[in-house]
Amino acid sequence: MLHSAPSKPSASVHPLFVQEVLRNREIDPFEGRPQAVAVQGVSRLFHGRPVLDGVDLSIRPGEFVALLGASGSGKTTLLRILAGLDAPDSGEAWVPEARTVVFQEPRLIQTKKVWKNVVTGLSGRAAARHVAAEALAEVGLDHRADAWPATLSGGEAQRAALARALVRKPRLLLLDEPFAALDALTRLRMQRLIGALCQTHSPATLLVTHDVEEALLLADRVLVLRNGRIAYDKRITLERPRVASGQEFDALRSELLSELGVHEENPVPA
Ligand SMILES: Nc1ncnc2c1ncn2[C@@H]1O[C@H](COP(=O)(O)OP(=O)(O)OP(=O)(O)O)[C@@H](O)[C@H]1O
Ligand SMILES: [Mg+2]
Repeated sequence: MLHSAPSKPSASVHPLFVQEVLRNREIDPFEGRPQAVAVQGVSRLFHGRPVLDGVDLSIRPGEFVALLGASGSGKTTLLRILAGLDAPDSGEAWVPEARTVVFQEPRLIQTKKVWKNVVTGLSGRAAARHVAAEALAEVGLDHRADAWPATLSGGEAQRAALARALVRKPRLLLLDEPFAALDALTRLRMQRLIGALCQTHSPATLLVTHDVEEALLLADRVLVLRNGRIAYDKRITLERPRVASGQEFDALRSELLSELGVHEENPVPA
């Protein structure tokens, strides 16, 4: 049963975590249901304080999930565990082998041209220039293939980071506030681009964001992380293409803001 199931995050530095891997390797985490991500009872402590405290979460293949929550609520911690960059203190996290992360900052290698950045870490035919060029064309950046990262604008650099993620054909795309550092107009363009790319490539996507409208424009499901757990989980059935207006959108925005402790007559959280 496990041959088609996602694998555990590869972080193996954590003894408890390794024990969990070995003990549960015969278990089919999906119980026959197709899932791209299965998280069960994941906890993570920092200095004795539980930041994640028994998170349960599943994401279906191709599903776009937005994760909201107050600053410091543990969103990045959860994303890092799914990426394999950190390990839980207890619990289980099953993720696909093919997964990539896009962070708030593009993290390009300054000494490599843009196209080389896109295929860096790949080998053989997967690292060919035309592979990079195709991915760059998808994000509208093929004309900057030979540029040095330092000469890119913030939006261009983030598109290069997106091309680098796409070229790996992820089954799970992890996005940690990827538009947060961009100006409002570039941010809108990037939101549309991500929406279109995810429709085309259909990876399961987890987008961490502070922007309620962004979440509602893009996601099939919106989650709120609070007190170390998924405290709110809502399927968004707004028709696509979506616009940030209309009765249903406004009602959802109010509901979400109130989940986040923001009340529109008093927009500063308590
Ligand atoms: N490596 C670490 N060592 C100690 N504490 C950590 C570590 N990583 C995260 N924390 C703490 O865990 C809490 C959650 O951090 P995390 O970065 O996951 O929050 P977040 O929800 O992503 O916040 P933000 O919205 O501000 O990005 C914070 O209080 C943070 O200080
Ligand atoms: Mg964060």
